[in-house]
Amino acid sequence: MPYTDDLEFEAFIHQLPKTETHLHMEGACPFELLQAMDPKKYANPPAFWDDDFRYESFDQFMEWYAEYCSTFFTSAQRYHDGMKIVLGNCAAQGCRYVETSFHLPVLLGIEDSGPTLLDAVRSAAPEGLELRIFAGMCHDDYRDEGIDLIEESLTWDGLDGLDLHGPEYLPLEPWTADVWGRARQAGKFTKAHAGEFMGADFIDVVLDKLKVTRIEHGVRAIENPVTVQRLVDEKIALDVCPISNLKLAVKGVASMSAHPIRQLYDSGVIVTINSDDPFFFGNRLSEEYFALKQDLGFSKKELAQVACNGFQIALIDEIQRNAYESELNDYLTDFELN
Ligand code: ADE
Ligand code: ZN
Repeated sequence: MPYTDDLEFEAFIHQLPKTETHLHMEGACPFELLQAMDPKKYANPPAFWDDDFRYESFDQFMEWYAEYCSTFFTSAQRYHDGMKIVLGNCAAQGCRYVETSFHLPVLLGIEDSGPTLLDAVRSAAPEGLELRIFAGMCHDDYRDEGIDLIEESLTWDGLDGLDLHGPEYLPLEPWTADVWGRARQAGKFTKAHAGEFMGADFIDVVLDKLKVTRIEHGVRAIENPVTVQRLVDEKIALDVCPISNLKLAVKGVASMSAHPIRQLYDSGVIVTINSDDPFFFGNRLSEEYFALKQDLGFSKKELAQVACNGFQIALIDEIQRNAYESELNDYLTDFELN
């Protein structure tokens, strides 16, 4: 880093059709909205935007999550306002398809209902941007009023899927496999965070128990070649967030040049790149592409393949998929491009 000083490359990335399939709404909160809410607290850009910043632990990151962005999301209208800016920025960067999640238990503390929140977010998407909305929840959220909320969410037409997030080291409780199975029966797509703060074993557990076909992060699969081969054989895609992994000091990511995405890609794993929580990392999607080029030697063709992977796994029909892929094919077959 910094990843923004090559204008020719920036133009290349900009015009590449891209996806963002790992984006937390609360962690993407636009700074200008926080400044408007509390000008004093947000007078200066946060220290965690510095390139050299590293979080001490995931717990510290979660504490700051509560202290900063979460205070903003007190109504469906606030989600609408935030996501209007976030999704507008995605589209302005050449992103055509976005999967984004909100923390489902937020609904326990606000007056608006799930369907109202979903409508508010959906109506924030600019024309031409395909949007899929996920409900995120932690390993220990299925208790007390959380039970009814999670059960109810399976009936919401406007909800596209479920994502398991939060502290990965909490036990994976038995309710999860049951709810994930019933969510799929109800037509929802299911995914889960794994292989970020736990090793490859936990990725195997999540695949075996939750029967997901998509893993958020998953980079610690690299610790076990058998798990890597499994991802390849079973066509399990990883929604990787390189700058997030660096700033959260994920094991094996002491520097961007050490990031396992290079080896995972070379092994044939389907990887996408994403920004995760841009407010907390100060990153933009285009910088994730820069990082892969600059520190991991990805060629333009390889980056076009990474972008193409996003459309391969997108929750769209085959006609749409073919249209996006044929646009990207021009880059994949361009002999001049390297
Ligand atoms: N929620 C928001 N960001 C997260 C991350 N990087 N890992 C797990 N849960 C999260
Ligand atoms: Zn995440």
